[in-house]
Amino acid sequence: MTNSTEINAAAEALKKGGLVAFPTETVYGLGADATSDTAVAKLFAAKGRPSFNPLISHVHAAEAAFALGEFSAEAKNLVAAFWPGPLTVVVPRAAGCPVSLLASAGLSSIALRVPNHPLTLELLRAVDRPVVAPSANLSGRVSPTTAAHVKRGLGKKVAVILDGGPCTVGVESTVVSFMNERATLLRPGGLSRGDIEKVLGHALEIEVDSAQPHSPGQMESHYAPHAFLRLDATSPHKGESYLGFGAHDHGPYTLSARGDVIEAAANLFRLLHELDGLGVKTIAVAPIPHDGVGEAINDRLRRAAAPRPKT
Ligand code: TXA
Ligand code: MG
Repeated sequence: MTNSTEINAAAEALKKGGLVAFPTETVYGLGADATSDTAVAKLFAAKGRPSFNPLISHVHAAEAAFALGEFSAEAKNLVAAFWPGPLTVVVPRAAGCPVSLLASAGLSSIALRVPNHPLTLELLRAVDRPVVAPSANLSGRVSPTTAAHVKRGLGKKVAVILDGGPCTVGVESTVVSFMNERATLLRPGGLSRGDIEKVLGHALEIEVDSAQPHSPGQMESHYAPHAFLRLDATSPHKGESYLGFGAHDHGPYTLSARGDVIEAAANLFRLLHELDGLGVKTIAVAPIPHDGVGEAINDRLRRAAAPRPKT
């Protein structure tokens, strides 16, 4: 397990402009010093990420976030309810915000999150500056939910990988923008829309225009394994592997034997990695309910199944 010496080594590596992979409750992140243009540029290069996709700045406490962005009363109320946790808010950059403009891809906004993992909160306290972190995978590929996934995908490009065990939530944070009149859902994620709307006291606007990628979660092919995906499959065709939901007779893989969407989210990326490792051409995936975090699971599956750009 990871101890304070490793956390301090990771903090030092970040301060020197290096890349550090760390666990969060959602997925593993690939972190860089958000205040360093060079470190952020290195991060984009390591991921192979189109630089118009802006990054989330991670901090250890809400107070640190309030120094970087301008929070309305409603935004403050929302983060008070869910931080640390799987919620990212997009707010106007504060005057004098030290975060690299490269991290915001030239936008006047900033995305902020306090992740809920003890090890990473300790790391963020130790570096004492914002850390940008996309999921620790090559751009477009399946997100990592274990340290082993990170090592397989990015191993050579990372100075340190902190191992905090498997991620408990398993899909990325929910992204809510406060840049418009009304709070807007930019990416469904580990925190359900219903839970957010209960605290806000009204429905979220939903932004769905994938031609304008405010959120790369909104680009088409994303989160993709090497295998093709066939969705809403009640049984596999010949030669396909089957990823079920609930108990079934089509092999050993199920997102949740008891048919629980929260458990399914936690297993989603791990099972996609595992089935992909078998080298099958197509993975057939059972229909998944859309309620709660099921909205995020369906969103990720749809993008993983989307037509892929020719490479
Ligand atoms: O759970 C998570 O959010 C993980 C862990 C590591 O924290 N991180 C993650 O980062 O998923 P990434 O880079 O894969 O996704 C960041 C999302 C994207 O949809 C991006 O477009 C959106 O946040 N985003 C970042 N900055 C933004 C901004 N200024 N305006 C609008 N969307 C923004
Ligand atoms: Mg990602």
